[in-house]
Amino acid sequence: MPLSTSELLHQLQWRYAVKKFDSTRKISATNWQVLEDALVLTPSSYGLQPWQFLMVQNLGLRQKLKSASWNQAQVEDCSHFVVFAALQSLDEAYIDRFADYTASVRHVPVEKIQGYIQMMKGDLIKGPRSREIHEWATRQAYIALGNLMTSAAVLGIDTCPMEGIEPVKYDEILQLNTTPYRTVVACAVGYRHADDAYAKAAKVRFPKDQILRTLS
Ligand SMILES: Cc1cc2nc3c(=O)[nH]c(=O)nc-3n(C[C@H](O)[C@H](O)[C@H](O)COP(=O)(O)O)c2cc1C
Repeated sequence: MPLSTSELLHQLQWRYAVKKFDSTRKISATNWQVLEDALVLTPSSYGLQPWQFLMVQNLGLRQKLKSASWNQAQVEDCSHFVVFAALQSLDEAYIDRFADYTASVRHVPVEKIQGYIQMMKGDLIKGPRSREIHEWATRQAYIALGNLMTSAAVLGIDTCPMEGIEPVKYDEILQLNTTPYRTVVACAVGYRHADDAYAKAAKVRFPKDQILRTLS
């Protein structure tokens, strides 16, 4: 059932980038499963899902990541910490694996989606976009970040999106260098501390007439 318009706007106003989490409050297993599902349900270009989401619950790793995050306290104090990693490159085997999986989920022979497969390969493997796969995959990962933040807000769960991180150090700490994925952004998830002054700060958004244009 859809939320009412006022419920949606209320939760979007309620959310803000939390600077101080209440480290004693943890997200319930049920809510966390829902947020994981929200991540998985994120749409991506062609549906290719060129990402991995790393849930870093190990406190030793969190400490190391904090020092690679301008020492921002959110990394350690939040309930759940998610690192978004995006594919660095793409090969035909990845697209073939995706195509086989699509065919099996949709119960169609893979030959039926040959046109689609060739279109993806023409664009991402043989076309000019092949030279910017990591940038393309990064854009997809940011959609997942937005999806996570909004889904959490709807459930009354706080987040702090984090670009103030050193991706190369993250890759070392999380041993991503031996995988096809590289860190692009992170998100702390949990509950705001009652003392976080930012909760009361007015939202700074340009007036609608400066950022929206209706072309009728
Ligand atoms: C991609 C992205 C990266 C961000 N990185 C950080 C960060 O590293 N640390 C932080 O405290 N806030 C970070 N922010 C929070 C923004 O400063 C904040 O979202 C913006 O000022 C708007 O305020 P609001 O989210 O509280 O409405 C980031 C936001 C986004 C969208």
